[in-house]
Amino acid sequence: MTTYHHYRPEDAAEWDRTDPLADLRQHFTLPPGIIYLDGNSLGALPRTVKARLEQVITEEWGRHLIQSWNQAGWYEMPRRVGDKIAALIGADAGEVVVADSTSVNLFKALAGALRLRPERKVILTEAENFPTDLYMVQGLIDLLGGIHRLERVSIEALSEAISEQTALVLLTHVNYRTGAMHDMETITAQAHAQGALMIWDLAHSAGAVPLHLNAAGVDLAVGCGYKYLNGGPGAPAFIFVAKRHQREFIQPLAGWLGHADPFAFAPDYLPAEGIARAQAGTQAVLSMSALECGIDLMLTADMSQLREKSLRLSAMFMDTVAMNCPELTLITPRNPHQRGSQVSFCHPEGYAMIQALIAQGIIGDFRAPDILRFGFAPAYLRYTEVWDAAQALIRVVKERLWDQPAFKRKNAVT
Ligand SMILES: Cc1ncc(COP(=O)(O)O)c(C=O)c1O
Repeated sequence: MTTYHHYRPEDAAEWDRTDPLADLRQHFTLPPGIIYLDGNSLGALPRTVKARLEQVITEEWGRHLIQSWNQAGWYEMPRRVGDKIAALIGADAGEVVVADSTSVNLFKALAGALRLRPERKVILTEAENFPTDLYMVQGLIDLLGGIHRLERVSIEALSEAISEQTALVLLTHVNYRTGAMHDMETITAQAHAQGALMIWDLAHSAGAVPLHLNAAGVDLAVGCGYKYLNGGPGAPAFIFVAKRHQREFIQPLAGWLGHADPFAFAPDYLPAEGIARAQAGTQAVLSMSALECGIDLMLTADMSQLREKSLRLSAMFMDTVAMNCPELTLITPRNPHQRGSQVSFCHPEGYAMIQALIAQGIIGDFRAPDILRFGFAPAYLRYTEVWDAAQALIRVVKERLWDQPAFKRKNAVT
Protein backbone atom coordinates (compact mmCIF):
# COMPACT_ATOMS: atom_id res chain seq x y z
CA MET A 1 0.00 0.00 0.00
CA THR A 2 1.25 3.46 -0.84
CA THR A 3 1.94 5.72 2.09
CA TYR A 4 1.26 9.34 1.37
CA HIS A 5 2.78 12.30 3.12
CA HIS A 6 0.31 14.08 5.36
CA TYR A 7 0.43 17.81 4.57
CA ARG A 8 -1.20 20.47 6.74
CA PRO A 9 -2.56 23.90 5.78
CA GLU A 10 0.04 25.45 8.13
CA ASP A 11 2.78 23.94 5.94
CA ALA A 12 1.39 25.70 2.89
CA ALA A 13 1.11 29.03 4.73
CA GLU A 14 4.67 28.73 6.04
CA TRP A 15 6.06 27.90 2.59
CA ASP A 16 4.32 30.96 1.13
CA ARG A 17 5.89 33.12 3.83
CA THR A 18 9.38 31.85 3.07
CA ASP A 19 9.03 31.38 -0.71
CA PRO A 20 12.08 32.93 -2.43
CA LEU A 21 9.99 33.24 -5.63
CA ALA A 22 7.02 34.95 -3.98
CA ASP A 23 7.73 38.32 -5.65
CA LEU A 24 7.50 36.86 -9.15
CA ARG A 25 3.73 36.53 -8.89
CA GLN A 26 3.20 40.29 -8.91
CA HIS A 27 4.68 40.40 -12.42
CA PHE A 28 1.66 38.49 -13.73
CA THR A 29 -1.94 39.62 -14.16
CA LEU A 30 -4.06 37.02 -12.42
CA PRO A 31 -7.83 37.41 -12.16
CA PRO A 32 -9.12 37.61 -8.57
CA GLY A 33 -11.00 34.58 -7.28
CA ILE A 34 -9.31 32.16 -9.67
CA ILE A 35 -6.83 29.42 -8.82
CA TYR A 36 -5.06 28.74 -12.07
CA LEU A 37 -3.75 25.21 -12.51
CA ASP A 38 -3.56 25.34 -16.30
CA GLY A 39 -0.27 27.13 -16.94
CA ASN A 40 0.78 23.94 -18.72
CA SER A 41 -1.82 24.70 -21.43
CA LEU A 42 -1.78 28.50 -21.51
CA GLY A 43 0.56 30.44 -19.24
CA ALA A 44 -0.64 33.53 -17.37
CA LEU A 45 -0.29 37.08 -18.71
CA PRO A 46 2.96 38.88 -17.78
CA ARG A 47 2.21 42.47 -16.73
CA THR A 48 4.75 43.91 -19.17
CA VAL A 49 2.93 42.52 -22.22
CA LYS A 50 0.25 45.20 -22.43
CA ALA A 51 2.63 48.15 -22.44
CA ARG A 52 5.04 46.39 -24.76
CA LEU A 53 2.32 45.58 -27.29
CA GLU A 54 1.01 49.12 -27.04
CA GLN A 55 4.52 50.36 -27.86
CA VAL A 56 4.89 47.97 -30.78
CA ILE A 57 1.48 48.94 -32.13
CA THR A 58 1.59 52.69 -31.53
CA GLU A 59 5.24 53.52 -32.08
CA GLU A 60 6.89 50.75 -34.03
CA TRP A 61 4.03 49.87 -36.34
CA GLY A 62 1.81 52.97 -36.11
CA ARG A 63 4.48 55.64 -36.39
CA HIS A 64 7.58 54.07 -37.91
CA LEU A 65 5.85 51.57 -40.13
CA ILE A 66 8.18 49.50 -42.27
CA GLN A 67 11.28 51.20 -40.90
CA SER A 68 10.79 49.20 -37.73
CA TRP A 69 12.11 46.09 -39.47
CA ASN A 70 15.53 47.74 -39.25
CA GLN A 71 15.13 50.25 -36.44
CA ALA A 72 13.08 48.36 -33.87
CA GLY A 73 14.88 45.03 -34.19
CA TRP A 74 11.99 43.21 -35.84
CA TYR A 75 14.24 41.49 -38.33
CA GLU A 76 16.57 39.92 -35.76
CA MET A 77 13.77 39.10 -33.37
CA PRO A 78 13.51 35.32 -34.07
CA ARG A 79 17.23 34.83 -33.36
CA ARG A 80 17.34 37.33 -30.49
CA VAL A 81 14.43 35.70 -28.67
CA GLY A 82 15.84 32.30 -29.64
CA ASP A 83 19.10 33.16 -27.85
CA LYS A 84 17.10 34.00 -24.73
CA ILE A 85 15.31 30.65 -24.88
CA ALA A 86 18.68 28.96 -25.38
CA ALA A 87 19.73 30.32 -21.99
CA LEU A 88 16.67 28.67 -20.43
CA ILE A 89 17.19 25.24 -21.97
CA GLY A 90 20.93 24.67 -21.70
CA ALA A 91 21.72 25.54 -25.31
CA ASP A 92 24.16 28.09 -26.74
CA ALA A 93 23.42 31.35 -28.51
CA GLY A 94 22.85 30.65 -32.20
CA GLU A 95 21.23 27.25 -31.64
CA VAL A 96 17.59 28.28 -31.17
CA VAL A 97 15.24 30.28 -33.36
CA VAL A 98 11.65 31.29 -32.67
CA ALA A 99 9.28 30.56 -35.54
CA ASP A 100 5.98 29.05 -36.55
CA SER A 101 4.14 26.54 -34.36
CA THR A 102 5.53 23.51 -32.56
CA SER A 103 3.92 21.24 -35.17
CA VAL A 104 5.57 23.07 -38.07
CA ASN A 105 8.94 23.07 -36.30
CA LEU A 106 8.56 19.35 -35.72
CA PHE A 107 8.07 18.87 -39.42
CA LYS A 108 11.27 20.79 -40.14
CA ALA A 109 13.22 18.93 -37.47
CA LEU A 110 11.99 15.51 -38.59
CA ALA A 111 12.59 16.14 -42.28
CA GLY A 112 16.00 17.71 -41.66
CA ALA A 113 17.02 14.84 -39.38
CA LEU A 114 15.94 12.16 -41.87
CA ARG A 115 18.24 13.74 -44.42
CA LEU A 116 21.09 13.30 -41.95
CA ARG A 117 20.39 9.54 -41.77
CA PRO A 118 19.38 8.76 -45.37
CA GLU A 119 20.09 5.03 -45.16
CA ARG A 120 17.82 4.47 -42.14
CA LYS A 121 14.06 4.16 -42.39
CA VAL A 122 12.62 3.87 -38.88
CA ILE A 123 11.33 6.68 -36.70
CA LEU A 124 10.86 5.49 -33.17
CA THR A 125 8.57 7.09 -30.63
CA GLU A 126 6.55 6.52 -27.51
CA ALA A 127 3.10 5.12 -28.29
CA GLU A 128 1.56 7.70 -25.95
CA ASN A 129 3.31 10.67 -27.55
CA PHE A 130 1.26 13.83 -28.16
CA PRO A 131 -0.93 13.39 -31.25
CA THR A 132 0.63 16.21 -33.26
CA ASP A 133 4.03 14.51 -32.90
CA LEU A 134 2.59 11.26 -34.27
CA TYR A 135 0.60 12.99 -36.99
CA MET A 136 3.53 15.07 -38.25
CA VAL A 137 5.62 11.90 -38.61
CA GLN A 138 2.77 10.16 -40.44
CA GLY A 139 2.31 13.11 -42.81
CA LEU A 140 6.01 13.30 -43.55
CA ILE A 141 6.30 9.55 -44.19
CA ASP A 142 3.42 9.83 -46.62
CA LEU A 143 5.02 12.80 -48.38
CA LEU A 144 8.30 10.91 -48.72
CA GLY A 145 6.55 8.07 -50.53
CA GLY A 146 5.97 5.67 -47.67
CA ILE A 147 9.51 4.28 -47.51
CA HIS A 148 9.87 5.12 -43.81
CA ARG A 149 8.13 3.47 -40.87
CA LEU A 150 6.85 4.93 -37.61
CA GLU A 151 7.36 2.53 -34.71
CA ARG A 152 5.33 3.27 -31.59
CA VAL A 153 6.44 1.46 -28.47
CA SER A 154 5.86 1.79 -24.75
CA ILE A 155 8.42 3.89 -22.95
CA GLU A 156 9.57 0.77 -21.10
CA ALA A 157 10.32 -0.96 -24.42
CA LEU A 158 11.96 2.07 -26.05
CA SER A 159 15.65 1.54 -25.31
CA GLU A 160 15.47 -2.09 -26.49
CA ALA A 161 13.70 -1.00 -29.68
CA ILE A 162 16.46 1.38 -30.80
CA SER A 163 18.50 -0.38 -33.48
CA GLU A 164 20.76 0.20 -36.45
CA GLN A 165 17.59 0.73 -38.51
CA THR A 166 16.53 3.67 -36.35
CA ALA A 167 17.03 7.02 -38.02
CA LEU A 168 15.50 9.06 -35.21
CA VAL A 169 14.01 8.76 -31.80
CA LEU A 170 11.30 11.35 -31.15
CA LEU A 171 10.05 11.86 -27.61
CA THR A 172 8.13 14.44 -25.66
CA HIS A 173 10.24 15.06 -22.58
CA VAL A 174 7.28 15.40 -20.20
CA ASN A 175 4.31 13.29 -21.22
CA TYR A 176 1.24 15.51 -21.69
CA ARG A 177 -1.09 12.95 -20.13
CA THR A 178 0.76 11.48 -17.17
CA GLY A 179 3.32 14.21 -16.49
CA ALA A 180 6.05 11.53 -16.50
CA MET A 181 9.45 12.99 -17.36
CA HIS A 182 11.92 10.98 -19.38
CA ASP A 183 15.65 10.82 -18.70
CA MET A 184 16.96 13.05 -21.48
CA GLU A 185 20.62 12.26 -21.07
CA THR A 186 20.25 8.48 -20.88
CA ILE A 187 17.81 8.13 -23.78
CA THR A 188 19.81 10.50 -25.97
CA ALA A 189 22.93 8.42 -25.26
CA GLN A 190 21.03 5.21 -26.08
CA ALA A 191 19.93 6.67 -29.43
CA HIS A 192 23.48 7.79 -30.21
CA ALA A 193 24.92 4.40 -29.28
CA GLN A 194 22.94 2.96 -32.22
CA GLY A 195 23.80 5.85 -34.53
CA ALA A 196 20.31 7.36 -34.35
CA LEU A 197 19.48 11.04 -33.86
CA MET A 198 17.39 12.31 -30.95
CA ILE A 199 14.60 14.87 -31.20
CA TRP A 200 12.94 16.14 -28.03
CA ASP A 201 9.60 17.94 -27.83
CA LEU A 202 9.97 20.34 -24.91
CA ALA A 203 6.37 21.61 -24.90
CA HIS A 204 5.87 20.67 -21.24
CA SER A 205 9.44 21.25 -20.11
CA ALA A 206 10.71 24.64 -21.30
CA GLY A 207 10.28 27.07 -18.41
CA ALA A 208 9.08 24.26 -16.13
CA VAL A 209 12.07 22.04 -15.46
CA PRO A 210 15.84 22.59 -15.69
CA LEU A 211 17.06 21.56 -19.14
CA HIS A 212 20.63 20.95 -20.31
CA LEU A 213 20.28 20.17 -24.00
CA ASN A 214 23.95 20.43 -24.87
CA ALA A 215 25.16 18.61 -21.78
CA ALA A 216 22.79 15.79 -22.77
CA GLY A 217 24.09 15.82 -26.37
CA VAL A 218 20.63 16.48 -27.86
CA ASP A 219 20.56 16.79 -31.65
CA LEU A 220 17.29 18.64 -32.27
CA ALA A 221 14.41 19.93 -30.19
CA VAL A 222 11.20 21.91 -30.50
CA GLY A 223 9.02 23.62 -27.92
CA CYS A 224 5.99 25.77 -27.21
CA GLY A 225 5.86 29.48 -26.38
CA TYR A 226 2.42 29.60 -24.82
CA LYS A 227 2.74 27.18 -21.91
CA TYR A 228 5.37 27.70 -19.19
CA LEU A 229 7.06 30.48 -21.19
CA ASN A 230 3.89 32.59 -20.82
CA GLY A 231 4.00 33.91 -24.38
CA GLY A 232 0.23 34.20 -24.90
CA PRO A 233 -2.35 32.23 -26.88
CA GLY A 234 -0.86 30.86 -30.09
CA ALA A 235 2.58 32.29 -29.25
CA PRO A 236 5.29 31.30 -31.72
CA ALA A 237 7.24 28.13 -30.98
CA PHE A 238 10.97 27.42 -31.14
CA ILE A 239 13.39 24.98 -32.73
CA PHE A 240 16.86 23.97 -31.53
CA VAL A 241 19.49 22.55 -33.86
CA ALA A 242 22.80 21.64 -32.21
CA LYS A 243 25.70 23.63 -33.67
CA ARG A 244 27.43 20.45 -34.88
CA HIS A 245 24.48 19.65 -37.18
CA GLN A 246 23.76 23.09 -38.54
CA ARG A 247 25.90 22.91 -41.69
CA GLU A 248 24.21 19.68 -42.81
CA PHE A 249 20.73 20.48 -41.52
CA ILE A 250 18.52 21.18 -44.53
CA GLN A 251 14.83 21.58 -43.83
CA PRO A 252 12.27 21.47 -46.63
CA LEU A 253 10.30 24.65 -45.82
CA ALA A 254 12.79 26.64 -47.83
CA GLY A 255 11.26 30.04 -47.29
CA TRP A 256 12.98 33.29 -48.12
CA LEU A 257 13.80 34.21 -44.52
CA GLY A 258 15.82 31.03 -44.17
CA HIS A 259 17.86 32.05 -47.21
CA ALA A 260 21.49 33.11 -46.90
CA ASP A 261 20.62 36.55 -48.29
CA PRO A 262 16.86 37.16 -48.37
CA PHE A 263 17.15 40.68 -49.72
CA ALA A 264 19.24 39.60 -52.68
CA PHE A 265 15.99 38.08 -54.00
CA ALA A 266 17.99 35.40 -55.78
CA PRO A 267 15.94 32.84 -57.73
CA ASP A 268 17.67 29.83 -56.13
CA TYR A 269 17.49 28.75 -52.52
CA LEU A 270 20.72 28.85 -50.58
CA PRO A 271 20.27 28.14 -46.87
CA ALA A 272 21.53 30.69 -44.37
CA GLU A 273 24.51 29.86 -42.23
CA GLY A 274 23.53 28.74 -38.76
CA ILE A 275 20.16 28.51 -37.11
CA ALA A 276 18.48 31.08 -39.42
CA ARG A 277 18.06 28.29 -41.98
CA ALA A 278 15.36 26.86 -39.71
CA GLN A 279 13.20 29.93 -40.44
CA ALA A 280 10.78 29.98 -43.33
CA GLY A 281 8.61 33.10 -43.73
CA THR A 282 7.94 36.40 -42.00
CA GLN A 283 7.63 36.23 -38.23
CA ALA A 284 4.54 37.25 -36.24
CA VAL A 285 6.00 40.40 -34.71
CA LEU A 286 3.12 41.16 -32.34
CA SER A 287 2.98 37.64 -30.94
CA MET A 288 6.72 37.39 -30.68
CA SER A 289 6.88 40.69 -28.81
CA ALA A 290 4.50 39.27 -26.21
CA LEU A 291 6.49 36.05 -26.02
CA GLU A 292 9.69 38.00 -25.40
CA CYS A 293 8.07 39.57 -22.32
CA GLY A 294 7.26 36.12 -20.96
CA ILE A 295 10.77 34.87 -21.59
CA ASP A 296 12.39 37.95 -20.07
CA LEU A 297 10.36 37.32 -16.94
CA MET A 298 11.33 33.64 -16.76
CA LEU A 299 14.99 34.64 -17.18
CA THR A 300 14.79 36.63 -13.93
CA ALA A 301 13.93 33.46 -11.99
CA ASP A 302 16.34 30.84 -10.72
CA MET A 303 15.43 27.60 -12.50
CA SER A 304 16.48 25.39 -9.61
CA GLN A 305 14.23 27.37 -7.26
CA LEU A 306 11.38 27.06 -9.76
CA ARG A 307 11.92 23.33 -9.92
CA GLU A 308 12.05 22.92 -6.15
CA LYS A 309 8.81 24.87 -5.75
CA SER A 310 7.08 23.03 -8.57
CA LEU A 311 7.95 19.66 -7.03
CA ARG A 312 6.74 20.72 -3.60
CA LEU A 313 3.48 22.13 -5.01
CA SER A 314 2.80 18.99 -7.02
CA ALA A 315 3.78 16.65 -4.17
CA MET A 316 1.43 18.41 -1.78
CA PHE A 317 -1.43 18.29 -4.28
CA MET A 318 -0.99 14.66 -5.36
CA ASP A 319 -0.51 13.23 -1.88
CA THR A 320 -3.35 15.22 -0.32
CA VAL A 321 -5.81 14.29 -3.07
CA ALA A 322 -4.68 10.67 -3.43
CA MET A 323 -4.87 10.07 0.32
CA ASN A 324 -8.43 11.36 0.51
CA CYS A 325 -9.86 10.15 -2.80
CA PRO A 326 -9.19 6.48 -3.47
CA GLU A 327 -11.79 6.83 -6.28
CA LEU A 328 -9.18 8.75 -8.30
CA THR A 329 -6.22 6.92 -9.84
CA LEU A 330 -2.96 8.85 -9.67
CA ILE A 331 -1.07 8.34 -12.93
CA THR A 332 1.79 10.79 -12.30
CA PRO A 333 5.02 9.37 -10.87
CA ARG A 334 5.54 10.30 -7.23
CA ASN A 335 9.31 10.05 -7.69
CA PRO A 336 10.41 13.68 -8.17
CA HIS A 337 13.08 12.68 -10.69
CA GLN A 338 10.40 11.16 -12.89
CA ARG A 339 7.82 13.89 -13.18
CA GLY A 340 7.54 17.32 -14.77
CA SER A 341 5.31 20.06 -13.38
CA GLN A 342 1.86 18.52 -13.66
CA VAL A 343 -0.28 16.02 -11.78
CA SER A 344 -2.88 13.79 -13.42
CA PHE A 345 -5.58 11.56 -12.04
CA CYS A 346 -7.95 9.23 -13.90
CA HIS A 347 -11.65 8.85 -13.29
CA PRO A 348 -14.47 7.94 -15.72
CA GLU A 349 -16.26 11.17 -14.68
CA GLY A 350 -13.09 13.24 -14.94
CA TYR A 351 -14.62 15.70 -17.39
CA ALA A 352 -17.54 16.55 -15.11
CA MET A 353 -15.20 16.81 -12.11
CA ILE A 354 -13.04 19.37 -13.91
CA GLN A 355 -16.14 21.34 -14.90
CA ALA A 356 -17.35 21.31 -11.28
CA LEU A 357 -13.97 22.68 -10.19
CA ILE A 358 -14.01 25.37 -12.87
CA ALA A 359 -17.45 26.45 -11.61
CA GLN A 360 -15.70 27.14 -8.29
CA GLY A 361 -12.94 29.17 -9.96
CA ILE A 362 -10.33 26.40 -9.92
CA ILE A 363 -9.05 25.87 -13.42
CA GLY A 364 -7.49 22.59 -14.48
CA ASP A 365 -8.15 20.70 -17.69
CA PHE A 366 -9.36 17.36 -19.00
CA ARG A 367 -7.65 15.05 -21.46
CA ALA A 368 -9.65 12.28 -23.08
CA PRO A 369 -10.62 9.69 -22.25
CA ASP A 370 -10.59 10.15 -18.47
CA ILE A 371 -7.72 12.35 -17.25
CA LEU A 372 -8.01 15.25 -14.81
CA ARG A 373 -4.87 17.30 -15.40
CA PHE A 374 -3.40 19.99 -13.16
CA GLY A 375 -0.38 22.11 -14.08
CA PHE A 376 1.75 23.84 -11.44
CA ALA A 377 3.43 26.99 -12.68
CA PRO A 378 5.76 27.85 -9.80
CA ALA A 379 6.34 31.38 -11.11
CA TYR A 380 2.89 32.56 -10.01
CA LEU A 381 1.20 29.92 -7.84
CA ARG A 382 0.99 30.07 -4.07
CA TYR A 383 1.18 27.01 -1.87
CA THR A 384 -2.04 28.03 -0.11
CA GLU A 385 -3.87 28.17 -3.45
CA VAL A 386 -2.76 24.65 -4.24
CA TRP A 387 -3.84 23.51 -0.79
CA ASP A 388 -7.28 25.10 -1.37
CA ALA A 389 -7.51 23.49 -4.83
CA ALA A 390 -6.77 20.06 -3.36
CA GLN A 391 -9.47 20.53 -0.72
CA ALA A 392 -11.94 21.64 -3.39
CA LEU A 393 -11.22 18.60 -5.55
CA ILE A 394 -11.66 16.32 -2.54
CA ARG A 395 -15.08 17.90 -1.90
CA VAL A 396 -16.08 17.59 -5.57
CA VAL A 397 -15.29 13.87 -5.45
CA LYS A 398 -16.57 13.05 -1.96
CA GLU A 399 -19.80 15.04 -2.22
CA ARG A 400 -20.38 14.12 -5.88
CA LEU A 401 -20.61 17.82 -6.77
CA TRP A 402 -19.72 16.85 -10.35
CA ASP A 403 -22.94 14.86 -10.81
CA GLN A 404 -24.99 17.53 -12.60
CA PRO A 405 -26.04 17.66 -16.27
CA ALA A 406 -24.38 21.08 -16.74
CA PHE A 407 -20.97 19.62 -15.89
CA LYS A 408 -21.31 16.79 -18.40
CA ARG A 409 -21.91 18.99 -21.46
CA LYS A 410 -18.77 18.80 -23.63
CA ASN A 411 -17.08 22.02 -24.81
CA ALA A 412 -15.05 22.12 -28.03
CA VAL A 413 -11.82 22.77 -26.08
CA THR A 414 -11.40 20.65 -22.97
C1 LIG B 1 3.75 17.78 -26.48
C2 LIG B 1 3.11 18.80 -27.36
N1 LIG B 1 3.62 19.05 -28.57
C3 LIG B 1 3.08 19.97 -29.38
C4 LIG B 1 1.95 20.68 -29.00
C5 LIG B 1 1.23 21.67 -29.86
O1 LIG B 1 1.86 22.19 -30.89
P1 LIG B 1 1.31 23.45 -31.68
O2 LIG B 1 2.04 24.65 -31.13
O3 LIG B 1 1.69 23.16 -33.06
O4 LIG B 1 -0.15 23.56 -31.47
C6 LIG B 1 1.39 20.45 -27.75
C7 LIG B 1 0.19 21.21 -27.35
O5 LIG B 1 -0.35 21.10 -26.32
C8 LIG B 1 1.98 19.49 -26.91
O6 LIG B 1 1.44 19.22 -25.73
